[in-house]
Amino acid sequence: MEKSAITIAGITGSLRKGSYNRAALRAAAECMPEGSVLKILDVSELPFLNEDEEAIAIPASVVAFKSELEQADGLLIATPEYNYSIPPVLKNALDWVSRGELLPLDGKHAAIMSASPGLFGGARAQYHLRQVCIVLNLCVLNRPEVMIGRAHEMFDENGKLTDERTRRHIEAQVKALVQSIRSDSAAK
Ligand SMILES: Cc1cc2nc3c(=O)[nH]c(=O)nc-3n(C[C@H](O)[C@H](O)[C@H](O)COP(=O)(O)O)c2cc1C
Repeated sequence: MEKSAITIAGITGSLRKGSYNRAALRAAAECMPEGSVLKILDVSELPFLNEDEEAIAIPASVVAFKSELEQADGLLIATPEYNYSIPPVLKNALDWVSRGELLPLDGKHAAIMSASPGLFGGARAQYHLRQVCIVLNLCVLNRPEVMIGRAHEMFDENGKLTDERTRRHIEAQVKALVQSIRSDSAAK
């Protein structure tokens, strides 16, 4: 791949094997525009942030996670909705990212998607997530929004996206994300 290829880090807050949100990230990886890739990161090994432990040593999994984010040009978050908000696994990962000298997401571009079996597709969680992104100084795309409702009907039993309309939405979102990163770096 050419040297100027854009790497987007993809994360979700679901630990579930059959996660619709991780499936949405896999679909996004298939939709990336030419010259860009989506690398899905694993947050399942990050321990719960405890300031006492943090003062002694930063866990290796956190160091590795932050380093992966540092190397990425942008971020795609696929969040489940738990009780109208984001799940603790995602909040914990973002809390780790907000700590220390290295702030790997500072000023980077990001996009948010969500998937839920419910009708609203996790929309309410997205607005909580946007609030957290402010403090991380992420530039989050406003549009296109991707909220995958009735997710159990959008993916097959292998977690493959089968709904073409949803695929087009995801495609438009990752295209807009990569475009915003390219425009930003061209302006510098
Ligand atoms: C603790 C908990 C709370 C939930 N609250 C909501 C909710 O507020 N809105 C919603 O649409 N779905 C809710 N759900 C259902 C999730 O959207 C559903 O389990 C979804 O599949 C989780 O994402 P995943 O498939 O990526 O794991 C909740 C699930 C759990 C476990």
